[in-house]
Amino acid sequence: MDIWAEFDEKTNYLERTCRNKVVYIWGYGLSGWFVEHILKRNGITNIKAIDKNPNIKAFRPYYIKFLNPKESVLLLTFEPGESDEKYLSDLGFKKGLNYIVIKELYDIDQKGFISYERYLDCRYGLDITTVVEETDKPSEESCGYHWGMDFVIVDMLSKVKFNSEDAVFDYGCGKGGALLLFNKMGCKKLGGVEYDKRVYSSLIRNMKKLDIDISGFIQGDATLVKNEIDAYNYYFFYDPFEGQSFTTVIDNICESYERKKRKICIVYASPRCHEYLIKSGFKLIEHMDVQEMTYPNINMYVINP
Ligand SMILES: C[S@@+](CC[C@H](N)C(=O)[O-])C[C@H]1O[C@@H](n2cnc3c(N)ncnc32)[C@H](O)[C@@H]1O
Repeated sequence: MDIWAEFDEKTNYLERTCRNKVVYIWGYGLSGWFVEHILKRNGITNIKAIDKNPNIKAFRPYYIKFLNPKESVLLLTFEPGESDEKYLSDLGFKKGLNYIVIKELYDIDQKGFISYERYLDCRYGLDITTVVEETDKPSEESCGYHWGMDFVIVDMLSKVKFNSEDAVFDYGCGKGGALLLFNKMGCKKLGGVEYDKRVYSSLIRNMKKLDIDISGFIQGDATLVKNEIDAYNYYFFYDPFEGQSFTTVIDNICESYERKKRKICIVYASPRCHEYLIKSGFKLIEHMDVQEMTYPNINMYVINP
């Protein structure tokens, strides 16, 4: 099934409503950045922000009374209360026409911010974004389970043209969130390894709900996965481990390359062990600066036959 078809339809509606208008994102935290990302991906660039938080560089909500509803669209990243709705309607803004409640549009519940992964959780009853308190780890070099600003990965993957043969393996794949973004961007063959048994169970439940083939998912320590990775040409890391674990895994990828020469691409979010990739013969081809805690920078590397 095309798990992103409905999301894309909703986004097309958003794009049609915003086209040739000045767009005001009301509520400009993490959700606002996501909405801005969606708009920019769809060619909408006349975007401004409204937020009551004085620490955010934005217009304050009173500014809405100076807007012309015929020329503007308001995108609300929060569920408006009765007083917000009355304020908007008194100023001539009509829901669906010149203001849209984004969580309603994408059927995202009120629990947290708006993101691709939160959309998947709400739409398909998945569990990607529930916090896991204590992840089991094979060593102190490993990080626990957490997810981040998924749209940064989409921005990076939009630099790639995937074909039907491409396959991605996520080292420390967690509950599969990042892999589902590769799926969105056209890479349909997915695999990965996850150490924590509870996280792995969520991963398998998620993939089964989406009818995604689970034969490429391994529960265990990433450093021990060897010949299985020959079937892939993209490898994804979101800060799963560092030190000896990282160098072993990169050596395994290099051995796989020697066994089967092909173009190999590594997408590395929070690239703390960048130097080892360069030392191993990988070339940095893309770099995105991200000033955000969970994804501080994301890089892409290749090795070619
Ligand atoms: C920051 S999370 C990233 C999850 C996923 N890649 C994503 O972006 O949604 C890192 C994951 O790596 C897993 N991990 C850490 N060390 C590992 C190892 N040696 N083998 C397999 N998984 C590991 C953790 O359990 C955790 O789920």
